Amino acid sequence: MGSRNDKVTLITGASRGIGRATACLLAADGGRLALGGRNMDSLAETARRVQEAGGEPLVLALDVTSDESVAAAVAAVMEKWGRIDHLVNNAGMTRDSLLMRTRSEDFAAVMDTNLGGVYRVSKAVVPRMLKARTGRMVNLSSVIGETGNPGQTTYAASKAAIIGFTRSLAREIASRGITVNCVAPGLIETEMTTAMPVAARDDLLSRIPLGRPGSPDDVAGAIRFLLSEQAGYITGSVIRVNGGLYM
Ligand SMILES: NC(=O)c1ccc[n+]([C@@H]2O[C@H](COP(=O)([O-])OP(=O)(O)OC[C@H]3O[C@@H](n4cnc5c(N)ncnc54)[C@H](O)[C@@H]3O)[C@@H](O)[C@H]2O)c1
Repeated sequence: MGSRNDKVTLITGASRGIGRATACLLAADGGRLALGGRNMDSLAETARRVQEAGGEPLVLALDVTSDESVAAAVAAVMEKWGRIDHLVNNAGMTRDSLLMRTRSEDFAAVMDTNLGGVYRVSKAVVPRMLKARTGRMVNLSSVIGETGNPGQTTYAASKAAIIGFTRSLAREIASRGITVNCVAPGLIETEMTTAMPVAARDDLLSRIPLGRPGSPDDVAGAIRFLLSEQAGYITGSVIRVNGGLYM
């Protein structure tokens, strides 16, 4: 066990999709994985897979829209492992509609989850990294935040904002040895995109040079790289994992 990776990684929205794939990939390196999310049954399944892959899981009830929930989850990780080396701000949601049909409560919910979640969890975790004078953070943006898409004004705004947040925080804490980067996935096959209208999905697909949608593992690989020792000189960057959809 001595040479195995003992880094503690907190992943938000780890119950399925990209969050789960990232947890399982990191587990293969033998890491300690704090799995945050709202669906405890699905999180338990992620934990089972993490264990199977060789990692040590900790399941956490976490709603990124709640300050109290975030504080409790971070406290639980600190109590169990005493540190948080890596943070993957992955939790996110869509409520797509044309602007004229967008309800204010949907705008607020998407912003509060996607952008507010990154803000809340980062604010709770960064003090631990500052103290340790080391750390890695990866935030999930989206190709849509860079290109825009009809019917996704709110989602695009939240994901573009995450890039600005990332670059600002990267500048704030670089001198403490902490890197902050984004991964911007394209069309990835998860429950988020199976909910898309078929025409919108087909339109995106037809514009992907690599000719296929991405898998959660494609994204997990980029996240793993940004968390690795080898990525120590990369901060404030956006790594696109989009099959060439936007370049
Ligand atoms: N699937 C894609 O094509 C795609 C493309 C670009 C970006 N992304 C981004 O990648 C991330 C993961 O997406 P996915 O495709 O795996 O989607 P998904 O819907 O399968 O997973 C999202 C996860 O976030 C969790 N979540 C949502 N609100 C939460 C909250 N308030 N508190 C805690 N957890 C919450 C969900 O429960 C779920 O586990 C998201 O930020 C998404 O915007 C996805």
